[in-house]
Amino acid sequence: LNTERTVDERLLSICELLETHIDYYNWVGFYFRNGNKEELHLGPYVGAPTDHTVIPFGKGICGQVAVSNENFVVPDVAAQDNYIACSITVKAEIVIPIFVNGENIGQIDIDSNTSDPFTEADERFLEFVCSQAAMILE
Ligand code: SME
Repeated sequence: LNTERTVDERLLSICELLETHIDYYNWVGFYFRNGNKEELHLGPYVGAPTDHTVIPFGKGICGQVAVSNENFVVPDVAAQDNYIACSITVKAEIVIPIFVNGENIGQIDIDSNTSDPFTEADERFLEFVCSQAAMILE
């Protein structure tokens, strides 16, 4: 009997934990760079299904993080001009890059139905979560 969990199962567990335990985390998912192509592909996620399963580099908040290698905290999505709406209930978003061997290989993306909910504590916490995800992905 093989009880080992796959990478996707472990990443999905991270999404479930975050979405369940932090009330202003309403959609939690991973996007990953697709090989050498300049596009992100949706990985494990929890929340409403999204049409945006492939996002070109530079497009939306996620695509901008793929290029900048920096955290992106959006207190009010309505104030962003380069934003891809997944659901009309979303008010705010945070995207934190995941680095493996110093390379930006993807990101965690969290949408909130609350306005301006994310603090520096969320950034530090999610950087830690991303470092754990990187160890799963290595
Ligand atoms: N809002 C994101 C797109 C992904 S959905 O939030 C799931 C963006 O602007 O990149």
